[in-house]
Amino acid sequence: MSDTAKLQIAGKDVEYPVLKGSTGPDVVDIRKLYAQTGAFTYDPGFTSTASCESGLTFIDGDEGVLLHRGYPIGQLAENSSFMEVSYLLLNGELPTQDELTKFENTITRHTMLHEQLATFYRGFRRDAHPMAVMCGVVGALSAFYHDSTDITDPQQRMIASHRLIAKMPTIAAMAYKYSVGQPFLYPKNDLSYTGNFLRMTFGVPAEEYEVNPVVEKALDRIFILHADHEQNASTSTVRLAGSSGANPFACIAAGIACLWGPAHGGANEAALNMLHEIGRPERIPEFIARAKDKNDPFRLMGFGHRVYKNYDPRATVMQKTVREVFASLNVSDPVFEVALQLEEMALKDDYFVEKKLFPNVDFYSGVILSAIGFPTTMFTALFALARTVGWVAQWNEMISDPEQKIGRPRQLYTGPTQRDYVPVSQR
Ligand code: ACO
Repeated sequence: MSDTAKLQIAGKDVEYPVLKGSTGPDVVDIRKLYAQTGAFTYDPGFTSTASCESGLTFIDGDEGVLLHRGYPIGQLAENSSFMEVSYLLLNGELPTQDELTKFENTITRHTMLHEQLATFYRGFRRDAHPMAVMCGVVGALSAFYHDSTDITDPQQRMIASHRLIAKMPTIAAMAYKYSVGQPFLYPKNDLSYTGNFLRMTFGVPAEEYEVNPVVEKALDRIFILHADHEQNASTSTVRLAGSSGANPFACIAAGIACLWGPAHGGANEAALNMLHEIGRPERIPEFIARAKDKNDPFRLMGFGHRVYKNYDPRATVMQKTVREVFASLNVSDPVFEVALQLEEMALKDDYFVEKKLFPNVDFYSGVILSAIGFPTTMFTALFALARTVGWVAQWNEMISDPEQKIGRPRQLYTGPTQRDYVPVSQR
């Protein structure tokens, strides 16, 4: 007999099934709670609530484990490519060589943007944040690709997914080019997904751009590390937007808007700015003291995570990648030294130990991206580019789920109870 959870409420005894996943915590199925008892559950921030069933990504935050379709992130980052991981997330299994080649060809052939989309860019101020541009341009895709917005057709859903994954590097690179006043570059089909993005970002039409293989590999790895992360805020936003039947381009634009916040995707930009502000190792204790001070809103950016209460496995790969990129580009950056020492000091400090605050993926990613030449404002745009595959895979999974319903949370109402309208002359 399967487990049940018993609850006593308003003098009633009710019993709910306990669902078991393939791994991870059990889940109490409270779908009938309101109908049977008239009560809601209260869980701001969804810290104890599973909002859906998913077979994509598993995280054990206490153990520092992250699996995509069962494969550990460290193994994928070490041995795989972003295209292969994208195929895995979308289709459930690692591709054969033929499947991978076909997938890469499909993505490559969707990288160009409708020519008229370029005119959208010219409507933005040159100093617009790339995420503001991305929200607008990705949302506008639905006005250009009507033939892939019928969400009931699995074929159209897959075409829309391929289009989004393929066009995101072009959109992000164009946002960068626009901000620096350089001409847009069209994609080049003989380059890899990541090599193509590097060329569209840093190349100019006046000369050939040579892709540095170490940088290409490092950036591809960063894309893998950001590809999906279970039901995080932006993914939940995409699912919630999609639950109403909204088209995929609009849903991904909603995900981009959510990702922009400093507590989510904006953290790598904030982490690098913080490392610059600290500037020298001698100043680290002062910043640690501020992070611990309850009366100071300052937090160590790139530290702590809603789910990981252990070292974020992505941060381990990131730290190694920083060293590789620095060696290849023959650069050194004092902020890396500050980052290493800050990590070491924080991990020895009781405050961070007790609260289980460890470096997250964003702690080192900013240092690498800055060494490659990206301005800080582009960091979140790169995150959005990589996370698009996770968003579309989760969105596809949701649409194909027979139990899918429009997302509609309830609330604990604490406002005024019913009262009569008073005309303005009598107030
Ligand atoms: N520096 C100092 N103290 C911290 C930090 C930090 N970075 N993070 C959490 N704390 C403290 C809080 O003050 C709180 O203390 P209290 O219990 O005494 O009140 C306790 O740790 C728990 O913090 P919460 O904010 O309740 O934890 P939550 O799970 O809601 O937050 C979050 C997680 C938002 C990531 C938080 O750790 C944070 O703000 N970190 C800095 C921003 C950051 O790096 N974000 C990136 C997240 S990863 C990603 O999006 C890819």
